[in-house]
Amino acid sequence: MCGIVGYVGHREAFPIIIKGLQRLEYRGYDSSGVALLNGKINVYKKQGKVADLLAFSEDKDTVSSLGIGHTRWATHGVPNDVNAHPHTSQSKTIALIHNGIIENYDSIKEELSKRGHTFESDTDTEVLTHLIEEVQKKERVSLFEAVRLSLAEVIGAYAIAVIEESNTNEIIVAKKGSPLVIGVGENEFFLASDATPIIEYTKNVVYLEDGEIARLKIGEEMELKTIENVEKTPYIQELELNLEAIEKGGYEHFMLKEIFEQPKSIADSMRGRLDSKTAEVKLGGLAEYEQKIINADRIIIIACGTSWHAGLIGEYLFEDLARIPVEVEYASEFRYRNPIITEKDVVLAISQSGETADTLAAMKLAKDKGATVLGICNVVGSSIARLSDAGSYTHAGPEIGVASTKAFTAQVTVLTLMALMLGRKKGTIAESYYRELISEIETIPAKVESMIGMNDYIKELSAKFKDALNFLYLGRGYNFPVALEGALKLKEISYIHAEGYPAAEMKHGPIALIDENMPIVVIATKKGHYEKVVSNIQEVKARNGIVIAVVTKGDTAVKEIADYVIEIPEVAEPLVPILSNIPLQLLSYHIAVMRDCNVDQPRNLAKSVTVE
Ligand code: AGP
Ligand code: GLU
Repeated sequence: MCGIVGYVGHREAFPIIIKGLQRLEYRGYDSSGVALLNGKINVYKKQGKVADLLAFSEDKDTVSSLGIGHTRWATHGVPNDVNAHPHTSQSKTIALIHNGIIENYDSIKEELSKRGHTFESDTDTEVLTHLIEEVQKKERVSLFEAVRLSLAEVIGAYAIAVIEESNTNEIIVAKKGSPLVIGVGENEFFLASDATPIIEYTKNVVYLEDGEIARLKIGEEMELKTIENVEKTPYIQELELNLEAIEKGGYEHFMLKEIFEQPKSIADSMRGRLDSKTAEVKLGGLAEYEQKIINADRIIIIACGTSWHAGLIGEYLFEDLARIPVEVEYASEFRYRNPIITEKDVVLAISQSGETADTLAAMKLAKDKGATVLGICNVVGSSIARLSDAGSYTHAGPEIGVASTKAFTAQVTVLTLMALMLGRKKGTIAESYYRELISEIETIPAKVESMIGMNDYIKELSAKFKDALNFLYLGRGYNFPVALEGALKLKEISYIHAEGYPAAEMKHGPIALIDENMPIVVIATKKGHYEKVVSNIQEVKARNGIVIAVVTKGDTAVKEIADYVIEIPEVAEPLVPILSNIPLQLLSYHIAVMRDCNVDQPRNLAKSVTVE
């Protein structure tokens, strides 16, 4: 995936594009580039971050009021200057930026090569630029028409923006499978992969639908049609996003800001969904589907990465509280496994970005087989949200750090509310226990706040382990997915190898790894197999492992045997994961900072993976 930005209007395009690319850098940061129109098309591109492009462009002519820019996450061709976008056509008079994959680029390339086209890069994207020029010449049509006709030949996913040297006030955009938002200002247009580059200029936006193409021309209304040439009327909507939410606000990193925001984001994910008088849970988006879920043969949760870990917690919650059988699947495995799905299944997709390609494809497959498909998404209006039959937003606010933190706790909160709602309706949970959980869930934001207060202590602890080569994370029951998530967080931002395991599985293999150098994070909160986990800690200590235990406040037994303890407030067992995850986020964060790692943009990763 990557980030794309464009501007046409009366302002200087370059600063708008650079700022926009910096906001979108979470989507990819292998290389970046701009194409600026000022008499001719000037293309500047550079391997590395947007800051490198900015430095490179310092002595260049950047005057222009029409331009497009790209920050790349390479799929075809290594990240270098040549493969960076924008790409230009054979005559260099057309420039294009692209997010996605042109799957049939090879056959198109072969065909074009026969007609004398020569290519500079290894990308799929450059081929499309040449194709547009070829079609334009052959059919003698406008750029708009040439792009439309070319896209009809393309298999794959794209959000593109195209400019042409002779068209001094026009950008053509199109979308299929990758996101694209158009900002409609006063005699000016903006375009971007998400709304963050647009927000400070206009609140009026159009989210392009799959298979749509638009002409953004100064002095004219936006012209919108489908690739099949059917005219459409653009639906302009108002953005509900504020600038503060997407800025660091004094924090050193977005990740730290997002960890600290959790008392609020968790409260936001519950807002308006709990009736304090009747103790009723209302998930408006799912209301119509309640009976369908209750009567479902099973719920199949599909997701990737951290969202998959939230899904695993969902399995414990739904089975425990609502007695509905659950399967949790990696979307990427599910889609290629020829899974057995019937109309009596409910498929629940979980995604922060709402754009993860594997999750989207798995949802489509489930839909085709007749299942009801629900979504839990953070990004409003995202592809997954739109593809779902119904769903609930997590309302955690924009998550910019590549490592997911507040989106995860919001996902788990929404899953908990859903399980409680279903359990009560189904009669599988005792009313007294239900009420206890409802009143306890309301205390979660304050409890998370108190845990944020442990930041300095966890920072000190992190200093002791910053040079570790490996980590193990162990947990049982509700805390097993928390162990997996703790390990993922550490490896993705600090590059320390870490593995999460069910605590009892340790003796079936990983125990061989334990020696006096191996830090082992054990989540040993009260209830939930506590005694068993204490025994697992004894087994680790008997082999000289270093134990960092996450325990319930007031614990004495683990304190005696563990090397270090992190206390979390007492809470009912199904609610523990939200709390036990917080210190693990902080531990990863501080270790990564101490190792000088790029916390917000870890190497090789992208915030949402919009390719297979
Ligand atoms: C989270 O820290 C990871 N960067 C990653 O595993 C992520 O959770 C995964 O790619 C799924 O993304 P989504 O929630 O946007 O679908
Ligand atoms: N396939 C294009 C490339 O590799 C675009 C990649 C993307 O969307 O991240 O350059």
